[in-house]
Amino acid sequence: MGAVAASARLTWAAGVVAPRPGERVLEVGCGHGVLVALLAERAGAVVGVDRSPTMVTAAGRRNRAAVEAGRVRVQAAALHEADLGPHPFDAVVSFNVRALSDPGQEETWDVVSRVLAPAGRVVVAFSVMTPGVEDDVVATVARLGGARGLAVAAVHRGETAPFPSAAVELRRPAAADRG
Ligand SMILES: C[S@@+](CC[C@H](N)C(=O)[O-])C[C@H]1O[C@@H](n2cnc3c(N)ncnc32)[C@H](O)[C@@H]1O
Repeated sequence: MGAVAASARLTWAAGVVAPRPGERVLEVGCGHGVLVALLAERAGAVVGVDRSPTMVTAAGRRNRAAVEAGRVRVQAAALHEADLGPHPFDAVVSFNVRALSDPGQEETWDVVSRVLAPAGRVVVAFSVMTPGVEDDVVATVARLGGARGLAVAAVHRGETAPFPSAAVELRRPAAADRG
């Protein structure tokens, strides 16, 4: 790691996800593609999806070499409309994306559950900008994931600036038992 210029929060998130060589990672709401770039330093393949074409253009530009090498793919689409291919993902990741952390996001979570590998993990990361937000997000994510057979395996906290960060990690219980 270290070649990508990145904020403390996204560097922290990449460490939480900690992709292993060969793993396939999906980032929802990838924005400018900074976390995509950090994940691609370790993962086998990274797919970034963002509903904003402007963001996806920037993400593609930032990750051009990895896109050309076939290790990164970026796509302009809302997650529930994205073409994610036939292969499952070992990790599904988001940072500050309300489509995963707000109540009522059933459609998005249906897709997350469908594309996640049986032993895969979901990491919903967010900036803790106001007191109490962390408990609300953890409860919401636990409910949305729980309805799809995913359980909270850990809540990670990072002393990042200007805001602290947190991330809810979910796994299917059988996978969590295996550690
Ligand atoms: C606050 S930005 C965060 C961007 C980046 N993850 C970061 O932390 O810098 C949220 C991003 O999520 C995207 N987004 C929101 N809902 C989405 C959805 N349902 N599917 C894909 N992208 C979505 C937005 O277009 C926006 O780029």
